[in-house]
Amino acid sequence: MPTIRFIHPDGSSREFDAPVGSSAMQVATGAGLHGVIGECGGSAMCATCHVYVDEAWIDRLPTPLPNELEMLECTASERLTTSRLSCQIKMSAGLDGIVLRVPATQQ
Ligand code: FES
Repeated sequence: MPTIRFIHPDGSSREFDAPVGSSAMQVATGAGLHGVIGECGGSAMCATCHVYVDEAWIDRLPTPLPNELEMLECTASERLTTSRLSCQIKMSAGLDGIVLRVPATQQ
């Protein structure tokens, strides 16, 4: 099963199994990970699942759809070129080991 490693702002990290087809947000919230909220349930309507994708992985993700790009303008923490909504990151075998950084705040 693929895994995701989340890195917190303080440098600590946690790794989780991530079933193929699940979103990174679902994996984080299901594990009770601090710092990823997912208030809208994954419909790209809240931006509380904002993450920074490690630069080694950013080009392996599909291009964001217009609704994701729109919500990325509403992130509580600074938007970077590596910003994505974790609810829009669907896990696949090719994303095994992806590294996502949790922003300092989501609200
Ligand atoms: S969970 Fe709301 S935008 Fe991702």
